[in-house]
Amino acid sequence: MTTRVLTGITTTGTPHLGNYAGAIRPAIIASRDPGTDSFYFLADYHALIKCDDPARIQRSRMELAATWLACGLDPDKTTFYRQSDIPEITELTWLLTCVAGKGLLNRAHAYKASVDKNVEQGEDPDAGVTMGLFSYPILMAADILMFNAHRIPVGRDQIQHVEMARDIAQRFNHLFGKGEELFVLPEAIVEEDVATLPGLDGRKMSKSYDNTIPLFGSAKQLKDVIARIVTDSHLPGEPKDPDNSHLFTLYQAFASAQQLAEFREQLLGGLAWGEAKQRLFELLDAELGEARERYQQLMERPADLEDILLAGATKARQTATPFLERLRESVGLRSFRAQTVTQETRKKKAEKTLRFVSFRDEEGKFRFRLLDVNGEQLVLSVPFDDGKSAGLASKGLQGGAEVSVRVEETSAVVLADDCVVARSEPLASAVDAEAFAQRIRQSLAS
Ligand code: TRP
Repeated sequence: MTTRVLTGITTTGTPHLGNYAGAIRPAIIASRDPGTDSFYFLADYHALIKCDDPARIQRSRMELAATWLACGLDPDKTTFYRQSDIPEITELTWLLTCVAGKGLLNRAHAYKASVDKNVEQGEDPDAGVTMGLFSYPILMAADILMFNAHRIPVGRDQIQHVEMARDIAQRFNHLFGKGEELFVLPEAIVEEDVATLPGLDGRKMSKSYDNTIPLFGSAKQLKDVIARIVTDSHLPGEPKDPDNSHLFTLYQAFASAQQLAEFREQLLGGLAWGEAKQRLFELLDAELGEARERYQQLMERPADLEDILLAGATKARQTATPFLERLRESVGLRSFRAQTVTQETRKKKAEKTLRFVSFRDEEGKFRFRLLDVNGEQLVLSVPFDDGKSAGLASKGLQGGAEVSVRVEETSAVVLADDCVVARSEPLASAVDAEAFAQRIRQSLAS
C-alpha cells in the first residue's frame, strides 16, 4: 500500500533558505519515493487568517508555486494545488466544525498565545482574535482528512494541530462511521535530522527575526546578504573555530562531506572571513543557480503557473468530490431521490412479511389466514371446498382481484370482486371494526 503524505505551505511570505533546507528540499526528495503519494498544497485560506494585504497574499501564492516547481517538484508525480481551489475543503471544514469541541480549540497554541498576550496587556482576552484564528486547526484538519493522508510532515509548532485533526477524525468516525473508518487517523512527522538553519545573526533563520537569506534573489543580492553574516573578529591568517561559526553551519547544510572537510581545514588554517563568505556564495550559487533560472522563467509566465495549479486541483478533486459526497451522506445530507428507494425497499420488505397461511379446518375445508408483518392474524378466510379455490382467492387478494374491505356489524370483511373471502374476529364495537378494516386496507395496499 502506498503511504499518502500531505503538507501545506502558508502563503504569507517569500521563501528563504531556511524554508528550502528545512521543508522544501526534504519534501521534494520524499516525493520521489515510489511508495509515497504526495499531496502538497498552498494553504492560501490559512494565509488569510494572518494577513489582510491582498497584494501580499497574491504575490506569495505565486512565489511559492514557482519556488516548489523550480526546486524540482514534479506536478505529474505529485498532487500540487491551492487549498482555495478545492471547495470541498471548506465544506468539510463545516462538517468538522460541528463535531470539534470548543474546549479542544481553546487549547490551541496560536489562539492561547493571543489570549495570554491580551491578558498580560490588560485587554479583553479575545481582543483582535478572529474566528479564523480560533478555528484554524479545524481548517487544517479538513486539509488533512479530506485526502485521508497518513503522514503529515510539519514543524514542531504544528504537531498539536495534527493531533487535533486526529481527535476530530476519531470523533467523526465514532459518530458517523457506523463501525467503518471514514477518516484515516493522521500522524505528524517531524524530521529530526533536517537542517535548521541559522540566520545572518546566528539565531534561527526566520522572517520574524528579519535575518533571512532569500532563496531566489539575484546573484548580486545573494552576495550582498551573505556579506551581512555576522562573524567574530578574528583577522585574516588567524585560525577560526568552525564549530562556533554559523557561517560554517550554513555551509554545512549544502556541502558534500569532502567540501565540508576542506572548508573546515581552511578555516582552522586562517582563511579570512571575506574569503569564507565568497566560498559560501559559490556553494549556494552552484546549488541554487539553475533553480533560480527556472524560478524566474516561471514568474514571467503566470498563466502557465495557473494552468499547472488548476490541473492539480482537478486531480485533487477526483478524490475530494466523491469522498465529500460520502461524508455528506454519513451525516444525513442525502439526496431525496435515494430516500424514495429506501421507501420502496421498505415496501418490498412489508410485502414479503405480509403472509398468507393456508390450512385445512376440522371439517376438512380449505382456508387461509392473512397475517400482518408481525405475524398477527388480520382475517380468516371463508371455507373453500378445494385447495385450488382457496389458492385463487388468496392470489386475488394479492393483486389479482378488485379488493375492498368493509365493516359488517363488528367485523371487518374482505371482498374480492364483490365476494366475501375473509373476515376478522368480531371486535368490541363497529368503530373498532372500522379502525381494523383500515389497518387491513393499509396492509393489503403496501
Ligand atoms: N498550518 C501550517 C503551517 O503554518 C500549514 C498548513 C495548513 C498545513 N494546512 C496544513 C500543514 C495541513 C500540514 C497539513 O505551517
